[in-house]
Amino acid sequence: MFRGKAWPLRARMTLLTCSAMAATCLAAGILVLGGIRNEVVSYERHRTEKVAHSVLHQLERGRLRQPLDSPHGILVQVVDARGRVVASVPELAGRPPMAAFQPAEDTSMQARTLCPPRGVDRCMDVLALRAYDQPGGDWMIYAADDAVPWYTSGVLVAFLIAISLALLLLTAIGTARTVDRTLAPVEAIRAELAEITASDTGRRVPVPKTRDEIRLLAETVNATLARLDASLTQMRRFTSDASHDLRTPIAAARAQVEEALLYPEETDWPVMAIEVLHSLDRLQAIVTDLLELAALDAGAKQPIETVDLAALVTNELDRRPRRVPVTTSLASGVTVLGEPLRLSRLLTNLLDNAERHAVSEVRVTVRTEDRTAVLEVLDDGSGIPPEHRELVFQRFTRLDTARNRDSGGTGLGLPIARQTAQAHGGTLDVEDSPKGARLVLRLPLHTPSGD
Ligand SMILES: Nc1ncnc2c1ncn2[C@@H]1O[C@H](COP(=O)(O)OP(=O)(O)O)[C@@H](O)[C@H]1O
Ligand SMILES: [Mg+2]
Repeated sequence: MFRGKAWPLRARMTLLTCSAMAATCLAAGILVLGGIRNEVVSYERHRTEKVAHSVLHQLERGRLRQPLDSPHGILVQVVDARGRVVASVPELAGRPPMAAFQPAEDTSMQARTLCPPRGVDRCMDVLALRAYDQPGGDWMIYAADDAVPWYTSGVLVAFLIAISLALLLLTAIGTARTVDRTLAPVEAIRAELAEITASDTGRRVPVPKTRDEIRLLAETVNATLARLDASLTQMRRFTSDASHDLRTPIAAARAQVEEALLYPEETDWPVMAIEVLHSLDRLQAIVTDLLELAALDAGAKQPIETVDLAALVTNELDRRPRRVPVTTSLASGVTVLGEPLRLSRLLTNLLDNAERHAVSEVRVTVRTEDRTAVLEVLDDGSGIPPEHRELVFQRFTRLDTARNRDSGGTGLGLPIARQTAQAHGGTLDVEDSPKGARLVLRLPLHTPSGD
């Protein structure tokens, strides 16, 4: 099945390398053929010249043999000043002169390639050698050898083609094999990914041993799978926690209504209604927090303004009375850029928690540290043990001892607060304190004058 998918890439790579190889073979073949042809041509020319000169020699010594003899099948004619054939090799007996051209007056030799019908019966390289001062003027010695064709020789061409084909075949096989070997791990990754379904996110794709891009791909895929796996696990836990927390107030309200209906006469209906309303309040609180979390998760933005932290605290404390006295130490002019509604909800949450746990007092401090605005809420309650300082920021976490005490909390307050802080480019942490819990919010300082 997947072989079919790997084929196009393999075919493309093979075609590419084979084309390159074919072009190389062609260029090399042309160079080799050209080189060899030059050698053959100059060798044959040299041979023809030697034969022509030996005939000239005979002529000058007045001992022209008739018929002429010549080695290597070279055809020779001697033509007198009036254009008559005086002597020739036996093959040309009785034939007219094979050529009529003459070297220029001051040169003794000239070569031309002649083809039928110009005095020869096949294409030949004809050499004309001038014999000076013979009876009646200059005579010509024509010596001809078979012309070397452009391809030099059929055997040579066949040999070059055979070598090229062999090289092409080797290239094709080599490329196909290399591509196959390279793609094998990719195919393994794909096959594994295809089998990993949402229900099986614990699996990972195979990581090849070689240190290359495919290994990086496999590692990246595995990192992505791990992240997906983690967020899936978190989402499952979140859903189950949320359902569990929603079920409790629903069950309570239901039990109250059922009991009231069972004993309508003995029921104090207004009291029952108030109790049901409590359950509804709790439901509403949870749903509101869940919606807020969803909005933060989605990165939903609210209008951004310059917020003065001291003013934020003062407003919040003026809004409603606190169970325990709140002392403040507020530096003025500590401003941040942010969503006022969310920041005030964050503060409310820290204050609610502190108030719930405080024994006698809560302290709120606003100050700057370097380029950071710091808001600190400290109480003198039981505090949060160091091993739980990260845990309390997880959704639906309520520390056991606190769970009995706190009826109102949803366990979503601190997670929402931290996510809000992070959305503002800041942090929210539990820090050391001699007594009680110390929650510290740090946000980037914003000076409206701008610098
Ligand atoms: N000031 C505090 N002192 C001691 N424990 C705290 C304090 N603030 C928070 N916690 C612990 O952290 C848990 C999580 O807080 P939070 O997310 O606001 O949920 P909730 O307030 O709904 O319980 C609380 O249940 C409580 O156990
Ligand atoms: Mg809370």
